[in-house]
Amino acid sequence: MKYYKKIIGKRIYLSPINIDEVDSYIKWMNDETVAANFGEYHRMVSSKSDMKWIYEPPRDMHRYAVVLLDNDELIGSLSLHNIDNLNRNAFIGIFIGDAEQRGKGYGAEAIRLILNYGFKTINLHSIMLTVHSDNYAGIKCYKNVGFREVGRFPEVIFKDGKYVDKICMSILEHEFEK
Ligand SMILES: CC(C)(COP(=O)(O)OP(=O)(O)OC[C@H]1O[C@@H](n2cnc3c(N)ncnc32)[C@H](O)[C@@H]1OP(=O)(O)O)[C@@H](O)C(=O)NCCC(=O)NCCS
Repeated sequence: MKYYKKIIGKRIYLSPINIDEVDSYIKWMNDETVAANFGEYHRMVSSKSDMKWIYEPPRDMHRYAVVLLDNDELIGSLSLHNIDNLNRNAFIGIFIGDAEQRGKGYGAEAIRLILNYGFKTINLHSIMLTVHSDNYAGIKCYKNVGFREVGRFPEVIFKDGKYVDKICMSILEHEFEK
């Protein structure tokens, strides 16, 4: 089996990444919406050697494949990274690779699964993320699952000929339980 049902939701599950599907990730790293929102659009991603995060993830990172329960189709990736066990916090990063799979609630479901795992299994207290201020779908999705804006770095991202802000968002364990 290509994927393992490590964290199971209603319509998707989170599995350790299967590196045999590296070509899908290379394709998505060349998707303008995914790459631009990760600040990676300026970078060339064309071969396995450009995919260090798949082959050599840092020790303080959990990297998951987001997979449909119905048919085991890979639709994206989600990470819990910069895990700080002393201060009990971490960051998340996510993309749903195929444009036609976005906006169906899969992102929100995947994030709820990782928040539950982060707070209830690995005993985190706070989970954070950053998002570009022009990423309206991302911001809405994060607010839907309980993240709130806690600050922003103004005009630090140069994108499509103009500067946009980087928004910092956070959720605490008691906010998730609500
Ligand atoms: C951000 C992302 C992970 C969210 O996943 P998703 O499955 O598309 O998200 P969801 O469907 O759960 O939620 C998206 C929400 O944004 C809303 N939305 C979509 N486009 C929007 C827009 N232009 N303006 C405002 N809201 C928008 C949707 O209606 C939905 O809200 P609702 O459920 O209240 O109706 C996904 O869109 C994605 O991968 N985007 C490209 C890469 C990316 O931006 N990664 C995040 C970097 S921080």
